[in-house]
Amino acid sequence: MDRQTRIPVAVLGATGMVGQRFIELLQGHPWFELVGLGASERHGGRTYAEVSRWRLSGSEMPASAARLPVVPCRPEALGGAKIVFSALPPEVAGDIEADFARAGVAVFSNAKNYRMAADVPLLIPEVNADHAAAIHEQRKQRNWSGYIITNANCSATPLVMALKPLQEAFGVKKVMVTTLQAISGAGYPGLSSYDILDNAIPYISGEEEKVERETLKMLGRWDEGYGFTDAAMVVSAHCNRVATREGHLECA
Ligand SMILES: NC(=O)c1ccc[n+]([C@@H]2O[C@H](COP(=O)([O-])OP(=O)(O)OC[C@H]3O[C@@H](n4cnc5c(N)ncnc54)[C@H](OP(=O)(O)O)[C@@H]3O)[C@@H](O)[C@H]2O)c1
Repeated sequence: MDRQTRIPVAVLGATGMVGQRFIELLQGHPWFELVGLGASERHGGRTYAEVSRWRLSGSEMPASAARLPVVPCRPEALGGAKIVFSALPPEVAGDIEADFARAGVAVFSNAKNYRMAADVPLLIPEVNADHAAAIHEQRKQRNWSGYIITNANCSATPLVMALKPLQEAFGVKKVMVTTLQAISGAGYPGLSSYDILDNAIPYISGEEEKVERETLKMLGRWDEGYGFTDAAMVVSAHCNRVATREGHLECA
């Protein structure tokens, strides 16, 4: 795909930790051209360089993002984008993502809001690309010209990547997984240093439930006219926060 035909895309929640990662990954992308950045109303259209501090180690704020205005997350404010990558917090992601899907935009979301919805794919292309067919049902049911596809919890994703070939070759009945998750997963500013330094916190609110439920959906089936069926296995997750900056570890 040459520069003229690249698909125009925008990032919602562009000033946050996940939003910055989206911007970094979109730099020089062969298919996508970053044309819009959305965040809360408070930035009032000032440029990304003016309102955002780059927090990713190992890279600098890309010049193409630095000069874009940061606009509210409304379809009319980001009119040029055919696809939006959403890094919005769950408190606002539900309504905003639906507004974009209703307006004909393809929404790829990191937020948890629609992950377990009966008509929304929770997608890892290498694992369950056939689940993408659920968007036809979603558009019909919700009368949307766009659609929402979600990605999974950051610990469920690598777990499912490892389990899929085992499931296909031998079948899997029971999974016990223990995670050691970096502080990056808590966003910015994340955890208080007094809580995490020299410590491991054996509890992350809502995380174990997400790993258990999302794993079953992703390893399950999508049948046209019937819907999703969970994989027939039991998953027990034990999630811990550790004092590592980035990179989760898990043992299953
Ligand atoms: N799948 C995964 O692996 C994974 C990992 C971590 C996080 N997540 C999810 O990704 C999402 C983002 O997490 P994060 O850590 O990047 O959060 P974050 O650093 O707190 O960033 C939140 C972003 O949302 C924007 N925002 C806040 N309120 C808004 C509103 N009312 N309207 C529009 N924009 C608003 C913020 O913009 P302002 O600058 O205007 O405040 C900021 O750009 C969350 O849903 C989180 O659970 C997923």
